[in-house]
Formats: sequence, C-alpha cells, structure tokens
Amino acid sequence: MELNTAAASGWLTDLETAAGRSLPDFVAGYFAMTAGGGTTHREGLRDWSASRFVPRVLSGVGSPSTATTVLGTAVNTPVLLGPVAQATAAHPDGEVAVARAAARAGSLLGVSTHAGVPFADVAATGAPWWLQVYVMTDRDLTAALVRRAVAAGARALVLTVDLPTLDTRQAAFEPSGWPDRALAARGLNLDDLADPADPASKARRTTAPDVGLDTVGWLAGLSGLPVVVKGVLHPDDAVAAVGAGAAGVLVSTHGGRALDRSVTSRQALPAVVAALDGSGAQTFVDSGLRSGADVLTALALGARAVFVGRPQLWGLATGGADGVAGVVEGLTNELRRTMAMTGVAAATAVPPGVLAAGGWPGGPP
Ligand code: FNR
Repeated sequence: MELNTAAASGWLTDLETAAGRSLPDFVAGYFAMTAGGGTTHREGLRDWSASRFVPRVLSGVGSPSTATTVLGTAVNTPVLLGPVAQATAAHPDGEVAVARAAARAGSLLGVSTHAGVPFADVAATGAPWWLQVYVMTDRDLTAALVRRAVAAGARALVLTVDLPTLDTRQAAFEPSGWPDRALAARGLNLDDLADPADPASKARRTTAPDVGLDTVGWLAGLSGLPVVVKGVLHPDDAVAAVGAGAAGVLVSTHGGRALDRSVTSRQALPAVVAALDGSGAQTFVDSGLRSGADVLTALALGARAVFVGRPQLWGLATGGADGVAGVVEGLTNELRRTMAMTGVAAATAVPPGVLAAGGWPGGPP
C-alpha cells in the first residue's frame, strides 16, 4: 500500500518554508533540529499521516463542536500550544504573542522554564497557561520558579522528564553558541536569583539528570496545581506517574529531540491511554502533528487534546500573534471539517471507529 508521505497540510508546509526564509540560519536550525539522525521525528510525521478514515454520510452532524476542557480549563479547541524555548528569537514578543494568539483562538499555552518574557506579561493577555518545569540541579531555584508562576496565575505544571542529556549533535545548535547572543533567551524569570553570566549560576540552572518519581508529588505539593508529566512513552511509566500524583501525562518524543530511534508518540499513545483507563488522569500527545486529520486521529485514540511545537514557531516568525492564531485556527478548521465528514459531533466524544483500522468492518484498506 502506498502511504501519503507529504505529512503536513500544504499551508503549513508553506508556512515552514516562509519561516525558514525569514529567520537567521542558526535560529531556523535550532527550531528544526532533532536528536541523532532524525529517525523518530520523520517516523512521527509518517505515523500520524498514515491514519485513514471512512467517511460517514447522513449523520445529521451540522457544525461539529471542537470545544473541550483540559484539567478543568475550558478551551474552544483541542489544539494547544506546547512549551518552546527561544520563542523570542522567532519574534521579539515571544511567548506574549503566543499567549495573545491563545486568548484569541480559545486555546492554551505551555510556557517554558527558559521563557524569554516575564510570566506576568503572559498572564496579562488573559490566556490560560501552564508552566513547563525542567527540574534544575538547584531544587530551591526550581521551587522559586514554580512559586513565581503560581503567583502569576499558571493553572498547571508540565514536568518535562525526557531530556536528561543532549546528544553532541543537539549541543551544536544550542543558543549558547549562537553568533548573535542577543537573540538567545535563557530563563529570564530567574535572572535576579541566578545570573546566567555567572558560571556558578549556570551550574545551578542545569537540568538535573536524576529526576525521580518523588518529584511529581513535590511539585504538586509545592504549587497546589495539577502536574502533567511530559515525555512519557511507556504505559508503566504513565501508571507510575499517575500513582505518584500526576493529573495527566503528555505522550511525547519532544518533537524527535529526545531519544532518536525511540517509538513515535503515535505508536505509544494507545497503550498509555489503555493503561490509564479509569484512573481519571488525562492523556495529551504531541510530536509531529501537522493537520486536523492528525488531531482527529489523536482524539480517536483517546487523547484529551494535542500540543503543537514547531508549527507555532513558524506562525510566530512569519506573523507574530496573528501567525500563531492562524496556525491554531487553521488546524482547528481542518479538524472541524474532518469531523463533519466522518460524522463526529463533538471533540469530547470521538469514537475509535472513526479510524479505518479501529472498527471499520472491512479492516484497514
Ligand atoms: C521544544 N520543546 C520543549 N519542550 C519542553 O518541555 N521545554 C522546552 O523548553 C522546549 N523547547 C523547545 C524548543 C523548540 C525549538 C522545539 C521545537 C521544541 C518540545 C515541545 O514542547 C514539543 O514537545 C515538540 O515541539 C512537539 O513536536 P512538534 O510539534 O514540534 O513536532
């Protein structure tokens, strides 16, 4: 069988090209970079685009609803904006522009530990936001970051656990080596506590390589917020994270930037959803989603919502807040149309059988 290997929607591919032209090479390279040879990233794109639907007719579905709730926050779309460092290198307004877009599109954003703008400026947009946490070798510094985010109104914490080390290839793209250092933003929200120019502070701010399950309860207790564990691929890790107090997991390969040759998030999602069935925890997914059909696939496999990483940076680079809103709205419109064509009325109730392999009497084509 011949699969469509043009993974992304055409307009998004055009946006990626336009963003690449508008950014300095070292920034575009950092955004596009993958771990190792890029196998997991390529296979992620391929796997999402491999799903097939059997259209349903006479369903009586008028205009499907894409609205849902994520950890109790109402959103108009299950297309959410994932935490990405160096957004300010794509556009001077950085995460503030992303937040404005989220507010406009009725979405939600993750704000990186390494955000290039103050939390208060994100909060001032009115958009719901979650703080992404890298646990640093200095746990007190980590706690200070979390407390600042809580005070500024973060609604959840996203604990990223899949990147204890970088490979040498990735290290070559790191902002610390950019020719224009002024474009690189590192954790401005902590600068008064640990000056990034001071080598001792740099060590304190390094991501801790020894983060364990106890961190989940520590962060939940410290913040009083729900914790989502990001970078889970094994169902047993999902169960352990929820057992340790997580309110959700984000199935992710970090956009193919963590372990190259890992399974893809599309491959891992069904077993994680099955393992968490009945736990009350919510499952999210990212890495390689590039169309409304990809989003519908994720929902049919049991994801509550999806995150996009690089596509928001392409929108940001080419059009600031308008560009990011255009990405969320473009993907949401595609999702709505795909739902209408497959007889799905609500993003909160997507039957697995919408996928050809998941219940079509004839089996996969
Ligand atoms: C990321 N990602 C990321 N994740 C995280 O937890 N903290 C971070 O600071 C960053 N920074 C970051 C920078 C850049 C440039 C990229 C591309 C990605 C990972 C991100 O949240 C998400 O998991 C992936 O980007 C999703 O894959 P796609 O949508 O980019 O294919």
